[in-house]
Amino acid sequence: MDINKILSEMTLEEKAEMCSGSSFWYTQSVERLGVPAVMMCDGPHGLRKQKGAADHLGINESIETVSYPTGPALAASFDRDVLRKLGEAIGEECQAENVAMLLGPGVNIKRSPLCGRNFEYFSEDPYLTGELAASFVESLQEKGVAACVKHYAGNEQETLRMSSDTIVDERTLHEIYLSPFEATVKKGKARSIMSSYNAINGSFVAECKKMLTDVLREKWGFDGFVVTDWGGVQDRVKGLRAGLDLEMPGGNPDAAVRIVKAVQDGTLEESVLDKAVLNMLTFVKRSITKRQPDTNIDRDANLKLAAELEKECAVLLKNDNAMLPIKKSSKVAYIGEFAKKPRYQGSGSSYINVPNLVGAYDAANNLSITYAQGFRANDSETDATLLDEAIKVAKESDVAVLFVGLPNSYESEGLDRSHIDMPANQNILINAIATVQPNTIVVMHTGSPVTMPWIDKVSAVLCVYLGGANVGTATNALLFGDANPSGKVAESWPIRLEDTSAYLNFPGHEGVVEYREGIYVGYRYYDKKRMDMLFPFGHGLSYTKFSYSDLKVSNSKISDEDEITVTCKVKNVGDVPGKEAVQLYIGNPQDGVQRPVRELRDFAKVSLKPGEEKQVSFTLGKRAFAYYEPKINDWNMETGTYTIDIGASSRDIRLSVAIEVESTTELPIVFTRNTPMAYLQKTAKGRALAEQMTAKRQQAQSDSSASDHLGEGSKEMVEAMVREAPLKFMCSFGGVSIEQLDAMIEMLNS
Ligand code: BGC
Repeated sequence: MDINKILSEMTLEEKAEMCSGSSFWYTQSVERLGVPAVMMCDGPHGLRKQKGAADHLGINESIETVSYPTGPALAASFDRDVLRKLGEAIGEECQAENVAMLLGPGVNIKRSPLCGRNFEYFSEDPYLTGELAASFVESLQEKGVAACVKHYAGNEQETLRMSSDTIVDERTLHEIYLSPFEATVKKGKARSIMSSYNAINGSFVAECKKMLTDVLREKWGFDGFVVTDWGGVQDRVKGLRAGLDLEMPGGNPDAAVRIVKAVQDGTLEESVLDKAVLNMLTFVKRSITKRQPDTNIDRDANLKLAAELEKECAVLLKNDNAMLPIKKSSKVAYIGEFAKKPRYQGSGSSYINVPNLVGAYDAANNLSITYAQGFRANDSETDATLLDEAIKVAKESDVAVLFVGLPNSYESEGLDRSHIDMPANQNILINAIATVQPNTIVVMHTGSPVTMPWIDKVSAVLCVYLGGANVGTATNALLFGDANPSGKVAESWPIRLEDTSAYLNFPGHEGVVEYREGIYVGYRYYDKKRMDMLFPFGHGLSYTKFSYSDLKVSNSKISDEDEITVTCKVKNVGDVPGKEAVQLYIGNPQDGVQRPVRELRDFAKVSLKPGEEKQVSFTLGKRAFAYYEPKINDWNMETGTYTIDIGASSRDIRLSVAIEVESTTELPIVFTRNTPMAYLQKTAKGRALAEQMTAKRQQAQSDSSASDHLGEGSKEMVEAMVREAPLKFMCSFGGVSIEQLDAMIEMLNS
């Protein structure tokens, strides 16, 4: 397929039509030139292919397939390999179903636990999100299926998502919200990006040149195509000019007419249209070339894979007195509707049609377990009969396992939560069971954090998140010790909603949402404010213990172009095999530009047999120490002393070493009469001038008996006054004329 030749033979109308879909899920074909239509489908934790009536809300049926663990679960694996395996499996499913592109992964940041779609997203941390998503993108695309990373960007809520305006400062935008997209473009080589519905700082993303061209293509080198979120087009012609290639869904003839008219009346250069068409033809060509029509899917194997992945994802939040794993000889009660019908995915466009959902109770048929429903999942009222029956069953058992969590109606696309509590009937049930049964274990099925008013009363909590169609098999393996939990929460669990950093500004007012907390999202906020959490970012227990030692760095200094290697040893000092997600944070200096206390900059999952020790190695470059500096529109590393902190969680740092950072980047600074003296130190010319001035002052002081207006003060006070005094003070106190000062300022700025 010679796409340049095809382009040259296309009529203006055909080109314009190519920039919209032909239907809900297909691109436009140009049969006379041999260009077929290709299909795209929702995901991303499974394949949602609709053969009949189409919709983007999860309403009409899609083909039967496997649903895998959802975003928060996958992120809790802290394991790039888990995402790789998932990408491969879904890639093959797409090939078997002739699907050219999967609409995912979603890499929006968990700014608030209230976002209804958090169950699809990975984490509050941009680095973790970007790394895991890039791994998924890479492996999916290796199977010849394009990934479409969404929703680019600033779409961290569902309230008014189709029209809202996200107000966010430049540094926060790049540092927190754009960097996951950047990773999927630069590292994952994503072939498509979905623009979000919303505006950022007053411009709708679907027609924003800065977002679609300047940042995406020019800064990051993106060479794929941009598609709107479904129905997310604004001004189609403005969008094309900004870098938007495809409008979806198709079926609106008006779209092409407008483009044709704009070219004809000269308001749109045809070359702009040609670029978009070439992007689309490149995608179609790649899809055809990489097509593997003979791919066969073994659904049973994929269902097994779903359980295997979930075992890597579930997080053991609490385990007092080694309550878990449960001895297989114990008399066990499974209580709660989710033991039979687990909540395993969320509602909306990612909803997968699952023929065989495996609940823990049915999957535990080789164990002797009694069951009581305990509550109705779609209700928040307590059913006294169900409660009494559950209490009776719990009393008669050695151990009670409660299967609880959020009902479907609590978290879904299109709707944010207004609180983070579980339904009252479930909290009442947990309290009641914990009162009569000291060995009470809670299994959580949720896509986002919830409050746990009963946390001190129960012995253990295992969070399986929304764990996919085979969550029951994985849960049993984890509860009874056939698998060892190794997940770590990828988001901070707050004690109360009011503690969260976006609390005062979520979901905004009259369609405007201000990200006023800036870079202080998730643990960046709690750490800075030294607040307690229910569970900190990165927390997760195991049935074994790990010791950390021998932290070494290849160099204790780093400059802009350098890389350093960090190594440490991790040992399994317990009795069972286990995996540990080793987390590397950089502790930032707190005396320069505003920085979080520490930030995750790498991680590795290590598998260890009892007694086994392994060395873990990380490579760090400038970016690990950098923040986004709007003055240079780039990442900048400040000179100072940092620490490399190796932790088992963000609040459980086991090893730490200092590292000196020496930046070679000089930030631009415009001097005025009111610039503080201290700023002279920020440039070479400034430093030279400051030295001259100091020498002059010392000379003057030794020549005469000095007088001042400061009275008696400490050395610190005098230094602070001098540091902060504006340059113009040189005229009042330094014997410099205003003309001389202006000449100095001109020299400094030249
Ligand atoms: C969602 C997207 C989805 C699209 C197509 C939109 O409503 O925001 O995530 O891919 O529909 O179903």
